[in-house]
Amino acid sequence: MKNRGKTALIKRKPVSETVKAVLPKVQKQFAAAGLENPRLEAELILSEALDLTRADLYLAPERTVSAARLRKIHAWVRARARRVPLAYIMGKSWFREIELLVNPSVLVPRPETELLVEQALELITSGNRIKKILDLGTGSGAIILSIATELRPLRDRLRLFASDLSAPALKLAHKNAQRLGLRNRIKFRRGDLFRPFPKDKFDLIICNPPYIPDSELKTLMPEVSRHEPRLALKGGKDGLEIIRKIMEQAPAHLHLGGWLMLEIGKGQAQSLKRMPGPELKLIRLAKDYHKIERIAIFQAG
Ligand SMILES: C[S@@+](CC[C@H](N)C(=O)[O-])C[C@H]1O[C@@H](n2cnc3c(N)ncnc32)[C@H](O)[C@@H]1O
Repeated sequence: MKNRGKTALIKRKPVSETVKAVLPKVQKQFAAAGLENPRLEAELILSEALDLTRADLYLAPERTVSAARLRKIHAWVRARARRVPLAYIMGKSWFREIELLVNPSVLVPRPETELLVEQALELITSGNRIKKILDLGTGSGAIILSIATELRPLRDRLRLFASDLSAPALKLAHKNAQRLGLRNRIKFRRGDLFRPFPKDKFDLIICNPPYIPDSELKTLMPEVSRHEPRLALKGGKDGLEIIRKIMEQAPAHLHLGGWLMLEIGKGQAQSLKRMPGPELKLIRLAKDYHKIERIAIFQAG
């Protein structure tokens, strides 16, 4: 059988190769697929497939990659060249201090959301007597599991809840809680926004809602537009449809003086300032690493 493509990683019947032979081939395939950091991604794929660190790839370049591992690498490379996010290929992602399982039913947690958590931790630990917390639209569980992990010493004080409309997302969040030893710390419920909590009131509601305007969905990177769940992204015509509903419904689910923290999209802060009714007061807007107003903090009054 002839090997047709010059850059093909593996022939029909793969034979073992060395790390130093495989790495540049993967890099070349990634460059051809238009990935921004082909070298870095090649290193990440190889190190994950071979259970090595990235440094190991260079410390032991003559190490043999078995035919079985080559097959695995080949499948991963093809998926990545189709712009499947690396996190879905590896089945995991890192968020603040925790490793999370991810799959295409959940958004890959983002660095901006790490800031949302940072702001929440500050609020919870700064004498606000926050006890009952809801992570609305939990996805992989990134937000609530980080809070539970980083505030373990406050475990007797905090009562943690998380919800999502997506059953598979909730299943994964559950699994992540289990892996982190937090299964009994968080109550998970499925349903549309506050429906699973008809009578509950919280001291803090945190939400990273879907906020991408429909017209922008197609313009996002292929990793996002083709592979991440629409339910996690789609914010309606102006991106604010879900946010508007949350702002309307949240006051009924907040104790007096309770807090609502939202992650928002670029350019949405101005609209948000005009949105709250008399029961919610915008306290602060926090900027992300790119100086974009990304987090809105409201208080119920
Ligand atoms: C932007 S993602 C955030 C996921 C996760 N919290 C994070 O920050 O990585 C939005 C999440 O909200 C969920 N969602 C969308 N519409 C919803 C609704 N009407 N009610 C409850 N959850 C919803 C999606 O399934 C998705 O998991």
